[in-house]
Amino acid sequence: MRIDKHLSDIKIERRSMVKKFLLTHEVMINGQVIKESDYHFDPDQNELMIDGELIPYFKNMNLVLYKPKGYLSAHKDTMHQTVFSLLKAPFDHFNFKIAGRLDLDAEGLLILTTDGKFVHEVTHPKKHLDKVYEVTLNRIFVDQESLIEGVMIKDEFNEPYLAKAKHIKVSNHLVTLTIDTGKFHQVKRMFQSLGYDVIKLKRIQIGNLNLRDLTEGHYYPFRKEEL
Ligand code: URA
Repeated sequence: MRIDKHLSDIKIERRSMVKKFLLTHEVMINGQVIKESDYHFDPDQNELMIDGELIPYFKNMNLVLYKPKGYLSAHKDTMHQTVFSLLKAPFDHFNFKIAGRLDLDAEGLLILTTDGKFVHEVTHPKKHLDKVYEVTLNRIFVDQESLIEGVMIKDEFNEPYLAKAKHIKVSNHLVTLTIDTGKFHQVKRMFQSLGYDVIKLKRIQIGNLNLRDLTEGHYYPFRKEEL
């Protein structure tokens, strides 16, 4: 990568900005101070430091975010704060997409990624990726077998389908549910179909990713192989 890549065809001010930047900041590549704006380097292989701070390079960026209840899984909204408002610099500069939304009143693990293909890998039903939810119900849950066998519910297009639990652990009102699909309001609709109200819904795992020790509104970057 040339530091001044394509500068010749864009505005001359940009070229002088880079030169000025190099005059006013210490830019180091692999420990060597760089003064030339046309210096070539491979950001995958070489270590870049600016003013003594290591600048990590990511072709794509992925985050696990602990979405709090009340934040919308969308880019913009006039009524509610969105999950993107939780990101601080430098993460607020990335063009993130959401890989598997959570309802406004749900909380927990949300994957943000700049990689469109990765969104597909996480969300496509044929990938059968496990998602684990902690579900608090209005009454003690006694219908494990029905959920394992599957319940008929409707998707976002009002088409009925059989939704099955892959694994269930029950402790009175609290159910830890694993499913390997992720359709519109699926978890709520599965419990509603059996006459339960979902009081609280928290996603705690997708594939091998979990919330670690995140608190609400915080996030950590991960490599997609970790999924
Ligand atoms: N299922 C739901 O009903 N809501 C969510 O937010 C996620 C899964």
